[in-house]
Amino acid sequence: MTEAVTTIAKATQTILDGGLVAMPTETVYGLAADASNDRAVARIFDAKGRPQFNPLIIHVSGAEMACRYAELPPVAKKLADQFWPGALTLVLARHDNCAISHLVSAGLKTIAIRAPKHHIAQALIKAVDRPLAAPSANRSGSISPTRPEHVRESLGSRVDLILDGGPCSVGVESTIVKVDHDTVTLLRPGGIPREDIEQCLGHALATASTAAPIEAPGMLASHYAPNTQIRLNVTKPESDDAFLGFGNYTMDSPNALNLSPDGDPQEAAANLFHYLHKLDTIAQLQGMTTIACAPIPMEGLGAAINDRLRRAAAPKRVSEHYGLPNGPH
Ligand code: TXA
Ligand code: MG
Repeated sequence: MTEAVTTIAKATQTILDGGLVAMPTETVYGLAADASNDRAVARIFDAKGRPQFNPLIIHVSGAEMACRYAELPPVAKKLADQFWPGALTLVLARHDNCAISHLVSAGLKTIAIRAPKHHIAQALIKAVDRPLAAPSANRSGSISPTRPEHVRESLGSRVDLILDGGPCSVGVESTIVKVDHDTVTLLRPGGIPREDIEQCLGHALATASTAAPIEAPGMLASHYAPNTQIRLNVTKPESDDAFLGFGNYTMDSPNALNLSPDGDPQEAAANLFHYLHKLDTIAQLQGMTTIACAPIPMEGLGAAINDRLRRAAAPKRVSEHYGLPNGPH
């Protein structure tokens, strides 16, 4: 057997034994467990320090597997056809007899489903032959992992096995939409730009109302947060700031990194969490108080980048954890 085959076999056994495997996806690394095993799913919440009211995404090989667990109305099939495998999560009505742990849905009647594109994630799902529940593989509220070393630093021995797929190509989490009959509502901007989904549908997405009761419990205003304070839309950083640049907003300093000197939002998304991890470490080591961030245009993946930066900058207080527009994380 090649090394890759041996590793997938070992990861499969770990999942079937109720263990936790960090798996690379094209968006971020996920902390995966058997979605039908209550105890294994409970271990995910425990390892992350995640509140149990915040539901998880299940990962499937494709639309056929998704249909076993949830209702896919025609518009959901259309989106799955166009964007799966890929960085789109669909929130759908659970089947009454759905075999997925209720912990995954945090007691909701809906379930979030995604078919990842990454070949390692696909290989693992196919070998296990059941859906994998997987949130991002980091401690709850901290910066998301886009490299195996981020998982190791954040979760340490709380994870049984880390599959090394190198850096994630997309770099921000999936876009989440809720599909209710023919209404499609954007819950979280992410790796598939809103514009692409709207083009596929032929009309605008509905936007989640913040006045509505919280049906997506993961609406945490503070998330993706480094230890260092973040300041947004800074065009002229102070000399004692760490600086996250973009395009022409740049700074010649060892304490500055540019997400994309060419101003390419895709390149910026792929670098975002890695650079936040790095600048956070630099700032902590040097006693700097602030990571200043350059303005980033909202087009394409810019919406997801701005969403993550806004949450990284939000005060870490539980009372403020609800109600930012654009939904859950
Ligand atoms: O790209 C991604 O989506 C990554 C990779 C690993 O797939 N996963 C990820 O999972 O970002 P997580 O747990 O960090 O974020 C999932 C979000 C949470 O904010 C949760 O509230 C929301 O999905 N969610 C899950 N089930 C839901 C449901 N039934 N209704 C509304 N929101 C839901
Ligand atoms: Mg997360």
